[in-house]
Amino acid sequence: MTATIERGAATAPVTSPAPVKKPTRKRPRGFLSSSNGKKVVMAVTGAVMVTFLILHMLGNLKIFISKESFNEYAHALRTLLEPLLPYRTVLTIVEVVLVASVVLHMWAAISLARRAHSARPVKYVAKKSQANGYATHIMRLGGVTILLFLIWHLLDLTFGVVNPKGFDSSPADRMIAGFDPSRWWVAIIYFAAVVMVGLHLRHGVWSAFQTLGWANRDRNKGLRLGAGLLSAVLVVGFLSPPLAIMFGVVQ
Ligand code: HEM
Repeated sequence: MTATIERGAATAPVTSPAPVKKPTRKRPRGFLSSSNGKKVVMAVTGAVMVTFLILHMLGNLKIFISKESFNEYAHALRTLLEPLLPYRTVLTIVEVVLVASVVLHMWAAISLARRAHSARPVKYVAKKSQANGYATHIMRLGGVTILLFLIWHLLDLTFGVVNPKGFDSSPADRMIAGFDPSRWWVAIIYFAAVVMVGLHLRHGVWSAFQTLGWANRDRNKGLRLGAGLLSAVLVVGFLSPPLAIMFGVVQ
């Protein structure tokens, strides 16, 4: 834009400064669009999944009591609150809540990662702390591995599509056939996935403690230990049935 200043007969064109463009920053519209909101979504959905995992692991350990005990437990899951509610209602609700938790957890993780990236598109020149880089990689790799594993796992033990005993067998028979020593490669898939679940959990539970504001200098050591212990118990608990089946302890 140009303006002219009259100075006698002469006119001198003066260039007025270009209007300063303020950086357009989209304001988070609601709690869920804020970083804190997304972290809370991650913590809550993570807690739902951890609760499921603890119950699932305890249920799997029933195979050590007997095949019948494991089958009864699998049957009980489908007949919960019967006859008040029709067959499989509670289990279906649990499945819907689980799927919603997985989707929301991933949505929050991806949008937090995108936000962090767009806030600093150019990487720090200084060397990143090893712990940070490791955690980020393990969380991403873990998330994708667990998702792929889940697809296989459902086809194997829930729907029986890739299981030698098929769908019409009992849950205990499917599990025992699934971990037959001849299918050692299946055991490798499970082991890799369960270890990833453990690593993902250890970091995730610790992050959730921070989001909830529980972490401080005095408690950090205890909270880290708690997150590590929970993950270790889950890994050992999940891996014991396949190991026992492979080594013939459970037949
Ligand atoms: C080696 C460890 C594991 C074993 C032996 C195992 C075993 C089983 C079995 C037998 C079923 C079918 C239950 C039934 O039809 O009544 C099942 C279902 C399921 N498992 Fe696992 N599981 C393991 C690890 C995991 C892990 C690590 C996850 C999650 C990350 C997981 C998630 C699920 C889900 C979502 C279902 C479907 C539940 C439903 O019927 O709605 N499992 N598992």
